[in-house]
Amino acid sequence: MNFDALLAEQLEMVRSLKQRLSPSPNWRDRILSVLEGPWAPEKADLPDRTRALPGHEKGAFRVGARGYDAAVQRQTVKEAIGESERLWSLTPWTSVYEYEVPIAGLPKPLHGLTILHLSDIHFLKSSDRPWKEMSRVAEYLERGELQVDLIVLSGDVITKNPDDLCHNSLRQLRRLSAVCPQAFMVHGNHDYHGHVPAIISKHLEGVGFYDINNHHVRLTIDGAPLNIYGIDDAYFGRPESPSVIAPGETNIVLTHNLDAIREDFPQEVDLILSGHTHWGEVKFFDGSKAMKWWGYTDNINRHTKHWDMLTDRTRSYVHPGLARYYMPFKELRHPPGVAVHTLVSDERVLSNQ
Ligand SMILES: [Fe+2]
Ligand SMILES: [Fe+2]
Repeated sequence: MNFDALLAEQLEMVRSLKQRLSPSPNWRDRILSVLEGPWAPEKADLPDRTRALPGHEKGAFRVGARGYDAAVQRQTVKEAIGESERLWSLTPWTSVYEYEVPIAGLPKPLHGLTILHLSDIHFLKSSDRPWKEMSRVAEYLERGELQVDLIVLSGDVITKNPDDLCHNSLRQLRRLSAVCPQAFMVHGNHDYHGHVPAIISKHLEGVGFYDINNHHVRLTIDGAPLNIYGIDDAYFGRPESPSVIAPGETNIVLTHNLDAIREDFPQEVDLILSGHTHWGEVKFFDGSKAMKWWGYTDNINRHTKHWDMLTDRTRSYVHPGLARYYMPFKELRHPPGVAVHTLVSDERVLSNQ
């Protein structure tokens, strides 16, 4: 890694961002004022969210609030998943984080089900780095070095506006969905920049990533049901907790920011896949002038653990993200990357301890 060159590049990025956004003192107010402006989302061509995928049912999402008990920690299982982590470098910039994810009562057909989890790609019109990183992920799948059954994308596809989804960016996503057609996405807070998240959805559905914001899909794998629930972004979306949940089935939630998980969240969820924090990348500036200027001091969710148990049943994961902003120091400990989750039975992991 050419550390000095990277540092200079990122400092330049900070300078240019400051220049572009000046003199507005409040980034969040800027976004909100734009959201209410003449480019409001109702003018966008909304994607058809009721379309069913072949072999899938797309169902209603919410019928009413459910109770929520206090979080219960299961230390042994938490430790087990930490031991299963395998981290290796896909490119000089991007790593692959592999995990075995224990799920109690996992039906046999779902044992070994593998999920490629993408998050915080932050495509950027002025930079070819994000799509080149994604092209390496696509090569990795095309070469069959990893076979995945599902792809999920937990938001922040873009950085500033829909123009960030250039031809090259979309082409890489298409390459991924061509290898694995079961690909689903939800919006992140950055997908509301440019105030037209529906355009992001439309572009992504065009390359095979299905928008499941506040919807769910029910897959059946060799007779075993697997439900995936998408929850909209906590900050700029309208996150809704799923309540039409089958307690005896395997239930996965996809959301950008764990702050979308509210007190009425149902307990019958096995796994929540999220992103947004970039694993503390933005914390580097926490409290500094730059952080306050950008309004980022509160733009990080309250969850700092990569893996956690939110209830006795519900395990949560926060993705490191593929993007890198600001200073590169994060990379010394937590390189950006993609995650690969392999579902295994809870009992199998515990018996290995
Ligand atoms: Fe992000
Ligand atoms: Fe985010």
